[in-house]
Amino acid sequence: MSKIYVWSLFTRLFHLFLIVAFVVTFLLSDIENLLSYHAAIGYVIGLLLLFRVVWGFMDVKFSKFKDFNFNLRDLAEYMLNILGNKKEYIGHNPASSWAIVAMIALGLASVVSGVVVYGTQEGMGILSFLNISLFKNMDFFEDLHEFFANAFMFVIFIHIIGVLVDRMFHKSQALDSIVGGYKHGNSESLKLTIFQKLFGLLWIGSSLFLLVYLLANPSNILMADANKAVDYKAENELFESECIRCHTLYPPFLLPKESWVKMMDNLENHFGDDASLDEADKNSIKKYLVKNAAESSTKESAYKILNSIKDRETIAITKTPYWEKRHKNIEKSIFKSKKIAAESNCKACHKNIEQGLLNDKDIKMPDTGNQK
Ligand code: HEC
Ligand code: HEC
Repeated sequence: MSKIYVWSLFTRLFHLFLIVAFVVTFLLSDIENLLSYHAAIGYVIGLLLLFRVVWGFMDVKFSKFKDFNFNLRDLAEYMLNILGNKKEYIGHNPASSWAIVAMIALGLASVVSGVVVYGTQEGMGILSFLNISLFKNMDFFEDLHEFFANAFMFVIFIHIIGVLVDRMFHKSQALDSIVGGYKHGNSESLKLTIFQKLFGLLWIGSSLFLLVYLLANPSNILMADANKAVDYKAENELFESECIRCHTLYPPFLLPKESWVKMMDNLENHFGDDASLDEADKNSIKKYLVKNAAESSTKESAYKILNSIKDRETIAITKTPYWEKRHKNIEKSIFKSKKIAAESNCKACHKNIEQGLLNDKDIKMPDTGNQK
């Protein structure tokens, strides 16, 4: 028995970065206004994994895919004896060989599907153009992304259990080796060539660089925002000046045509107020609203509001099922607080709504002293 160098510094750093990145991005996945961070870290995970794939095809002892054990009979024997007397592997055992390939594949699938969701649903990122053509599939891609991410997490979970069981029952050195790099056994040590060392440096260096770059330059190409601010005043001056008099200027894409027509034809009795206009002005605004209603928008909010309404009749955005669903976790007392006053005061929390921007990253809860 001798001390064998098994995992290079690069493999170990990759492993560590991947754990940290996955945990952080998973925790961020449900926090809407931190979506940019989720996306940035997702891209970094993609780069880390791509390098790992190339690393697997290089002649790096133990790490190369050729040194993995994919033999199903060995896998069955390994699993059957998992609590008993099983063979100790220096490199990857059959279970971890399969787990690692599965994690790389599911990780990459999570990243790619994530970039597709970012594009189709948010109109953001390198695939932002997909929002125009594929917005009707946004839910499908989101489900797919969640499926891959959950499957990825499931394999990670199995992998951790495997390592812990191995350690408890067999004093396996797997955990120590992925930290320190060494195992004890009978085999030759890993030796990296100069080229492999340079490649390893590039792997870790470019991943760190990408992270810092994406966080420091929010308008980078990988996270670019295709949603353009709308100048409603320039588009229809009357709409802008008239409909902002009493409340937030609601972007036309937040309600379907039918609702706008109903509302505009009954301005004398507008939520208890008289907002009536002369016939010409009314028709100009009505035409503008109908032309830009939810049906003609590819935005997530428009598409989802439209789908949620179905045959319900409403002229209030806040009465649409989608609006209700997205705001149900916000305490009523927050809406009633001094700074907000009403649910309809969208701009208190969606600071760019009057420019037609409802991106997740623009959501900012005002400090009302009793946030959820
Ligand atoms: C005289 C004041 C006044 C004017 C002018 C006015 N509104 Fe309103 N509007 C109200 C009030 C009051 C409400 C109810 C707000 C609430 O529920 O908190 C409302 C609610 C709305 C809502 C529903 C908001 C929600 O809760 O989802 C929409 C949509 C709306 N107005 C559109 C318009 C449009 C379009 C125009 C321009 C043609 C307009 N309003 C002009 C007073 C006005
Ligand atoms: C008290 C703050 C607050 C107010 C007022 C508010 N919102 Fe929101 N809104 C939020 C928060 C927080 C979220 C994110 C909820 C989540 O995590 O899903 C959100 C989510 C949304 C979404 C989903 C985002 C998306 O990408 O589709 C839409 C659309 C939206 N709000 C529209 C509105 C409109 C329209 C109004 C006014 C009629 C409004 N909100 C008023 C806080 C607010």
